[in-house]
Amino acid sequence: MGGPKGSEAARRLIVALDVPSVAAAEALAERLSGEPVVLKIGHQLAYMGGLALAERLIRQDREVFLDLKLHDIPRTVEEGVRSLAGFGARFLTVHAYPQTLRAAVAGRAGSGLQLLGVTVLTSMDDGDARVAGYAAPVADLVRRRAEDARAAGVDGIVCAPTEARLLREHLGRAIALVIPGIRPAGAESGDQKRVMTPGQAIAAGADYLVVGRPVTGAPDPLAAVRALSAEIAAASVGA
Ligand code: C5P
Repeated sequence: MGGPKGSEAARRLIVALDVPSVAAAEALAERLSGEPVVLKIGHQLAYMGGLALAERLIRQDREVFLDLKLHDIPRTVEEGVRSLAGFGARFLTVHAYPQTLRAAVAGRAGSGLQLLGVTVLTSMDDGDARVAGYAAPVADLVRRRAEDARAAGVDGIVCAPTEARLLREHLGRAIALVIPGIRPAGAESGDQKRVMTPGQAIAAGADYLVVGRPVTGAPDPLAAVRALSAEIAAASVGA
């Protein structure tokens, strides 16, 4: 959409480069090069040249999100985060367990890397949590991990759109809410079960929206990004 409002809104948009090859990711990034969106590289790309791609994108002054969801013993997490901190990426995800959060915060010291804690994967419901040995319902786990993330001093948390309002009320503005499960009105939801439109998610308190298939699968990804930015800009008025 161009203009200062659209460009400000595009900074809140994280495009998941969930495509089958580095070449396809690079082409998509190039197509979106005029938009100040954040580009997210996840497991699919990271293990086949995605980290080298991240370095190239960062050299072009693009904002990069490494969605690697780290979780291990504290020393391994701390050293892993320290290795990644040198990349110049903007965001990195870790699972929001207290030891892991604290180790990640130690590992990023001195860098501009922002850490995001993944509370409970949105693919899990109460039944899945029980099978995994958790007695508490998912909503309680999410809230507890969000509190732990804030206490550890990370910059944000990743949570479902349906949890955004409650977490915003509970945590205030102290921590950024990064929200996947976004679908423009009328779009296919695919495997996402708890979806919201961009406007609804912003109104619920989201700081950043993570969008994959509505962009990667669009006939014109640039037009899709511009439409999403316009919706974010419109919803931000008064949100
Ligand atoms: O294609 P879609 O818009 O559903 O993509 C959402 C992106 O957000 C994917 O890259 C997915 O890995 C990521 N994500 C998610 N749910 C989480 C954490 C990350 O959907 N809890």
